Amino acid sequence: MQILVTGGLGYIGSHTSVLLLEKGYDIVIVDDLSNSNIEVLDNIYKITGKKPTFEKIDLKDIRAVSKLFKDYKFDGIIHFAAHKSVNESLKKPEKYLSNNVGSLENIIAEIKLLENPINFIFSSSCTVYGQADSMPINESFPLKKAESPYGESKKMCEEILKKLNNSNHSFKNITLRYFNPIGAHPTGLIGELPIGNPENLVPYITQTAIGKRDFLSVFGDNYKTKDGTCIRDYINIMDLAELHITCLEKLIAVEDENFFKIYNVGTGKGTSVFELINLFENVNDIKLNYKIGDRRKGDVISAYADTTKIKEELSWSTKYSLENALKSAWNWELNLNKDE
Ligand code: UD1
Repeated sequence: MQILVTGGLGYIGSHTSVLLLEKGYDIVIVDDLSNSNIEVLDNIYKITGKKPTFEKIDLKDIRAVSKLFKDYKFDGIIHFAAHKSVNESLKKPEKYLSNNVGSLENIIAEIKLLENPINFIFSSSCTVYGQADSMPINESFPLKKAESPYGESKKMCEEILKKLNNSNHSFKNITLRYFNPIGAHPTGLIGELPIGNPENLVPYITQTAIGKRDFLSVFGDNYKTKDGTCIRDYINIMDLAELHITCLEKLIAVEDENFFKIYNVGTGKGTSVFELINLFENVNDIKLNYKIGDRRKGDVISAYADTTKIKEELSWSTKYSLENALKSAWNWELNLNKDE
């Protein structure tokens, strides 16, 4: 089976690509390298012993997308490719809409030309819920007004997929609303590689611990939560990567040619920023320099998943721990800095 993995050199894409290769799938990785590094390809090879096909393509380019679908016959598509910085999206909203929405539209134009229903997995985000009225968040919660163009782009993509599913074109889709993926591959060869200043918590923690940053700023400690800091649902990247295999197998097996499901992807457990910092310090036996800073604009106070639906319908639950994620993230940072 040949699977197209867009954004396959990115954080979630690279971990999923490794598992797909290990499971015996042929994959075609498409990436424009705008927020990833070509060396990831070599590291995927080092881990798996297999060389995935790679195409450097900007998915906004409709002609390139059309050629891609002429050159290959895909049995499935996992569409990770997207810009993901909330902060940047506030400054450059157009970039986010044209890339995140435009890429999906180009792919869908090609999907519509296919005879057989394609198996399609889409990367969405818990950001579509905004600040939910209660916790944990289940899939039937209303989608709130997006806090950022990034969030808006994910909502628009979900709408586009829903419309395609309601059209008379057969199309099998699972949309995954990720909570907060963290950690790295156990080999330390692939992990989260932010280009420039990291915005997400764990890369900021590891870069501070190694001395690239002077201190971590905790964005607010006066929220109405157990210890005043924000609550998130941190999920180990290895669990998240494995889930994509589960979803792909489900889509391949299911007979309904209009299969369409949306799942939350988290652990179901809320962890505060302080709890995460403490855990990082304990499991890695390291002291982290941090200060309390201002609240970050647009941050929701709390977001963690109700995982009942995915557990029941896909018999999937997380296997790896938070401790493991924080150890592997540190191991990854150490590896990155080995040669410097
Ligand atoms: C953010 C996005 C989310 C997106 C995800 C993609 C916002 C509001 N949300 O999630 O839509 O899908 O990234 O990767 O930006 N924190 C600090 N100090 C730091 C960094 C973070 O205290 O230097 C805190 C934040 O306030 C938050 C938690 O750590 O409470 C997690 O932050 P982050 O990793 O940026 O993830 P989200 O904000 O949940």
